[in-house]
Amino acid sequence: MTDTATDGPAGGPLHPATVTGFRRAWRDLAPVGRAASSGGYHRFAWTPADLTLREWFAAEAADRGLDVTADRAGNQWAWWGDPDADGPGVVTGSHLDSVPGGGAFDGPLGVVSAFVALDELRARGVRPIRPLGIVCFTEEEGARFGVACAGSRLLTGVLDPDRARGLRDGDGTSLADALRSVGRAPEHLGADPAALARVGAFVELHVEQGRGLVHSGDPVGVGRLIWPHGRWRVELRGRGDHAGTAPLGDRQDPMLDLAALVLAVRAAAEDAAALATVGKVRVDPNGVNAIPSRVTAWLDVRASSPGPVRAVLDRLGHYDPTEESWTAATVLDADLADEVAVALGGVGLASPRLGTGAGHDAGILAAAGVPTSMLFVRNPTGISHDPAEDADEADCLVGVGALTAALTRLVTAGAS
Ligand code: GLV
Ligand code: MN
Ligand code: MN
Repeated sequence: MTDTATDGPAGGPLHPATVTGFRRAWRDLAPVGRAASSGGYHRFAWTPADLTLREWFAAEAADRGLDVTADRAGNQWAWWGDPDADGPGVVTGSHLDSVPGGGAFDGPLGVVSAFVALDELRARGVRPIRPLGIVCFTEEEGARFGVACAGSRLLTGVLDPDRARGLRDGDGTSLADALRSVGRAPEHLGADPAALARVGAFVELHVEQGRGLVHSGDPVGVGRLIWPHGRWRVELRGRGDHAGTAPLGDRQDPMLDLAALVLAVRAAAEDAAALATVGKVRVDPNGVNAIPSRVTAWLDVRASSPGPVRAVLDRLGHYDPTEESWTAATVLDADLADEVAVALGGVGLASPRLGTGAGHDAGILAAAGVPTSMLFVRNPTGISHDPAEDADEADCLVGVGALTAALTRLVTAGAS
């Protein structure tokens, strides 16, 4: 992050303590799960890095006098006010987990901004008439157990808890065992209608994963829709043998099938105007001098509408792909987006509307009927899921100002 913060002409000015709080939180999080060699983050659900992040979240909440609860999916909630007595409330937040070798901003920017926006509301003397919640969703990236947005899917009941308990990571550890190993009861996993009912509206701030705001020249934007997307697994079987003795003509080498699959995916995506990626493979036994006996490949397909996604899958039908997750297209609440835009206009910010091909817990909540909006912060590289993901500190603080403005409007709506 380039350290260029000023008080900011738009979205602010923020109280100096808010800016200090943002910098401190960012500094505290920076080393957690960071690989020294690449600078990429490895923050996977229920690993030591994740437990450190959970403790960080609880400590930030405690510093502000907020109690933390975990719902039946393991998502963490901190409430200012009592959503059971005075709710439903307004919730903001995001996630702290990462993809393998991920960037610093995807997720953490929304959680840090949530805490410091609450500080700014308090510093300004805002008196909410609706409770304000801060949430950190578990396993948003699905990097460990394969299902994206697992925490919000469990919460809302779209991920069956039996299926969730049986999900396995790359080492074969089930989610149930991972939970047991950190002292949590897997039997507790499940939908949590009571936790969900506390959420009257959700606003997720997120780094932009693209260059829409670079092109429009705006530091922040407002989400319009989330593309439909899915993940599939393809098993390619062969026959293991010795790299130095098996004649080429005798081999059954699934690596050749993988090469053909990757090219077929690319061609199908180009023809259908979709995005399709083979970003993860497992090779058994993965030895330099061994012909593999089996290759497993994972496929991610997205498009602005479901048709092209289905067209890609139809072209790959002979590979018999197994669906691991599917998220329908989500149009975010237009009325709430208008409310957010009015709030941004009040602090001198434009509200370009952005669609995104990235998945978000916001989409899962929106699909569950929660009025949901997203705020995006400009990313000069446009890159995400990589250490090159970036945002200038000045833009992050404009984002905090924008979130503060939106929350002020939402938590005081109806107050005279
Ligand atoms: C998560 O960021 C995803 O889009 O897969
Ligand atoms: Mn992500
Ligand atoms: Mn994210």
